[in-house]
Amino acid sequence: MTQEQILEAAQAVLDKNFKGNHTIPAQGLYPHQWLWDSCFIAIGQRHFDVERAQTELLGILRGQWSNGMIPNMVLNQGRVRRHNATFWRSSVSPYSPDNVQTSGITQPPMLAEAIVKVGQKLDPRERRTWYQRVYPALVSYHQWLYTDRDPHQEGLVLQLHPWETGLDNTPPWMYELHQHQMPLWIRTVEKLRLDLLMTPFRKDSLFALPGERLSTIDALSLYSIQRRLRRKRYDTQAILSHSHLAIEDVSYNAIFIRANEHLKSIAKTIGKTLPEDLRANIRKTKEEFEKLWDAYSGQYYSRNFVTHKLIKVPSIGTLLPLYAGTITKERAKMLVDLLNDKHQFAAKYPVPTVPLKSEWFHAHMYWQGPTWINTNWLIIEGLKRYGFDKEADHIREQSIKLYAGHGSSEYFSPIDGSPAGAKNFSWTAALIIDMLHDTK
Ligand code: GLC
Repeated sequence: MTQEQILEAAQAVLDKNFKGNHTIPAQGLYPHQWLWDSCFIAIGQRHFDVERAQTELLGILRGQWSNGMIPNMVLNQGRVRRHNATFWRSSVSPYSPDNVQTSGITQPPMLAEAIVKVGQKLDPRERRTWYQRVYPALVSYHQWLYTDRDPHQEGLVLQLHPWETGLDNTPPWMYELHQHQMPLWIRTVEKLRLDLLMTPFRKDSLFALPGERLSTIDALSLYSIQRRLRRKRYDTQAILSHSHLAIEDVSYNAIFIRANEHLKSIAKTIGKTLPEDLRANIRKTKEEFEKLWDAYSGQYYSRNFVTHKLIKVPSIGTLLPLYAGTITKERAKMLVDLLNDKHQFAAKYPVPTVPLKSEWFHAHMYWQGPTWINTNWLIIEGLKRYGFDKEADHIREQSIKLYAGHGSSEYFSPIDGSPAGAKNFSWTAALIIDMLHDTK
């Protein structure tokens, strides 16, 4: 496939998944609007239709809660989808909007990055108008993250569900869950192997092979956490008072650091000053983030919010401090060494979401091994900031090769590139478009 053919095919995927005011991640499996998906989608769309990219991001804001929270899903109506609205029941929270149904949790704060990337395609006057339009919503989202998700005012924000990291079954979270938070009834199901009976009834098995998704036990655990959050009306204070699973995730906070820098530059462009408390918090986040560093293994880890212990289970989060861009060059180099290590992240089709030598690694198992194009994109951005252009180019070239060979799949085996998960997946298409423009 030539570059032009890839661009054409990728745009066709986005056109197919476009629903008038937002783009769904994929037909069937993902029929709603997702927060970080739409951010990645807009980053690709801006190259062929900047207005549509703006519409995409404004679509996310339809779902913003009055306390500033931006939910990870804005739900679409419809018979099949009504089930999701009942599942989330966002109206249990007094902060949820009246006219749209949403989820009750959030996702990585990629919005500021997407706003800036879309802004780069506008002339300076249009850019200021664009920034002015989205600035109040963005500030209130970042303020909410601090007031609601950093209750001890230490600088890092916590997540209440692995879905909030966007990396659903990523090993550090699943490890914590198995160690401390697995409800008794799920342990019983596991012990009696009743999960084997349930597997054929899973909705996602209609769209992807069971071996490519979460295990049934893990899926049940994630649903049970969601139900606990809903029972507490998505009220963080109430949830935390019941010793709930809460983690200061390294990937989430790395993305937040970068988002804060973008927020500052957006404010500057339109002549606004961020509130003093927000500026102080932003400084604190960068300092506190360094406490996630483990000198012994030479890498960053997520931290349990309650025990303050690092969760020393490597994952794709290990490399995302590169994207934050505020770590020292020395530490960035140590992460690049992991990226270049054949036992760690140096697969033929990088970057695996779990180190190759890890006991968690499975080539096709969702966030426990496969290569995803969005995490590749984040790592490429980080590498370029630190001047590791050779490594960045290599990941970009291999990502484009995956697309040319296997189309817009949700994820790929890092070993042989074989595709897995949903077909015609939007962010794969969007970010390949962005990567191709980067080489032009
Ligand atoms: C899955 C992914 C998440 C994504 C969503 C929609 O839940 O883990 O990152 O946002 O699907 O594509």
